[in-house]
Amino acid sequence: MAREFTDGDQRDTAVNTYEPKRILVTGGARLIGYNFVRYLLTADSNSFIVNLDLLACAGSLRNLENLPEPGRHVFIQGDICDRPLVDRILPKHRIDTIVHFAANRDIATQDSPDAG
Ligand SMILES: NC(=O)c1ccc[n+]([C@@H]2O[C@H](COP(=O)([O-])OP(=O)(O)OC[C@H]3O[C@@H](n4cnc5c(N)ncnc54)[C@H](O)[C@@H]3O)[C@@H](O)[C@H]2O)c1
Repeated sequence: MAREFTDGDQRDTAVNTYEPKRILVTGGARLIGYNFVRYLLTADSNSFIVNLDLLACAGSLRNLENLPEPGRHVFIQGDICDRPLVDRILPKHRIDTIVHFAANRDIATQDSPDAG
């Protein structure tokens, strides 16, 4: 259902009351992703993280060693393009939020110098 906000206070209240609890992080075995995972495990003791990463593009399980509170983190090696896999993960872990970092840096963008 769409909601319309008429002033900044109402909008801020709506944003601030949202509390992600069961979070699917994609690409969480590489720089930005694993730092986010570490931050969240430390900052929010109620969070539960499912980390889906293909372990391509220099993603590595070594980046996930010695996590704070590892009991609140599950790692799954897999492809975000694998629809049946993602369809299984979402209900199984009761995911309420997706944070997307998975990326293939070998793919040139339209703005990059390598783009054809
Ligand atoms: N590193 C930086 O300085 C920086 C700066 C700005 C923005 N970003 C953006 O942040 C995001 C993460 O960057 P990064 O440098 O941490 O990592 P990255 O872009 O090198 O790789 C991210 C991770 O995605 C995983 N991955 C790739 N394809 C996948 C797939 N199909 N399914 C599942 N996992 C897959 C890889 O295994 C890797 O661990 C990217 O979108 C990047 O463009 C990065």
